[in-house]
This record gives sequence, C-alpha cells and structure tokens, in this order.
Amino acid sequence: MQRNIRKKISTYKENLNYREAKYDEIDKINHIIKYGYHIKWDKDFFYKMIDNGAYILNIIKLEDEIIGFIAIQKIKDECDIIMLIIDQKHRGKGYSKFLLGETLNYLKSYGIKKIFLDVAATNHSAINLYEKFGFKKFSERLAYYKYDNLEIDAISYRLVNS
Ligand SMILES: CC(C)(COP(=O)(O)OP(=O)(O)OC[C@H]1O[C@@H](n2cnc3c(N)ncnc32)[C@H](O)[C@@H]1OP(=O)(O)O)[C@@H](O)C(=O)NCCC(=O)NCCS
Repeated sequence: MQRNIRKKISTYKENLNYREAKYDEIDKINHIIKYGYHIKWDKDFFYKMIDNGAYILNIIKLEDEIIGFIAIQKIKDECDIIMLIIDQKHRGKGYSKFLLGETLNYLKSYGIKKIFLDVAATNHSAINLYEKFGFKKFSERLAYYKYDNLEIDAISYRLVNS
C-alpha cells in the first residue's frame, strides 16, 4: 500500500469524510482516545502508525472536525483492528457504522481480505457493531484485559471481507 498518497476517500451525506490521518491531526486523535477510552496510548505510537507501512490510521471527519479513527495492523493480506473509536460527544449517531463500512471498502481495495479483532466481553456497543457487519466469534481469551484491578475476557472475531 502506498502510504504517501493521502487522498480523500469518500464523502457521505455531504458532510462526512473518511481518509488517512495526517501528522498534524495526531493531537486531536490522541485527545479522542484520552478522553473516550479507559486505556491511554503513547502519542508516538500514532506517529509510528503513519510512518510505518505495517499500520493504517484512518479518520472520520464531520465537516471540519475529526470525530473518530480506526487503527489497524496489517500482516500480508490479513489485518487486526486494534482500535476503533468515536469521540464521546458524537456517539449513538451511526458514525461508527460509517467508519467501519468505509474501512471495509478501503481494506478490500488493497486486497486485505481477513480481518481480526479482539473486543472486551463487556463492550456490548462494540460487539453489536462488529456483529452487525458480519464479524463472527471464533475464540475467547480469558482475562485478556487487565485494568482497574479487573480481569476481563476478550472475544476474538474475524470477518472474511469478500
Ligand atoms: C463502540 C463505538 C465505536 C460505537 O460508536 P457509535 O458511533 O456510538 O455507534 P453507532 O451509533 O454507529 O452504532 C453502531 C452500532 O453499534 C451498536 N451500539 C452503539 N451504541 C450502542 C449502545 N449504547 N448499546 C448497544 N449497542 C450499541 C448498535 O448495534 C449500533 O447499530 P444500530 O444503531 O443500527 O443498532 C463507541 O461506543 C466507542 O467509541 N466506544 C469506545 C471505544 C471502543 O470501545 N471501541 C471498540 C473497541 S476497539
């Protein structure tokens, strides 16, 4: 995949936009995860994702505002979704469906057919989203997540994006 080509990928309902992230957008992307998820990421990891061809970091914009992103690790024609998040104040409006739907088209256009992910068994919103898109559960990983002195199982999902 040519990571240096930063193009507008699609427009939806005249004000939603999906495309690859740029360096000067990392602060906002970091802000979304910092205030919208219980696990914090090192900001340098986002720079690495833009620089390193083994990763994909794509955003969704509502007019001029970045309202979510998806982070993916590629392994040949397979990939792992490592994060998909919508800014807290924009949740419940269908934006993750747009983000995931555009991502599946994006991955398909680069020949990436098998998509894997792990999700906390307690994360019902995300589970509903992934199942809605046809992801199938294939395994469980006991006590995979550990935070706030809690151990939470992960459910592993996969999708063959044909
Ligand atoms: C999971 C998340 C991405 C959903 O984003 P969203 O934009 O609010 O979701 P949408 O409005 O697009 O809804 C998409 C589907 O998700 C499910 N969903 C969303 N919110 C839900 C909720 N509160 N309860 C149950 N299901 C929910 C539904 O199936 C919904 O489809 P429907 O409206 O047709 O029924 C968002 O809650 C989020 O960013 N969570 C924190 C990060 C995270 O947990 N990411 C996943 C782990 S990698």
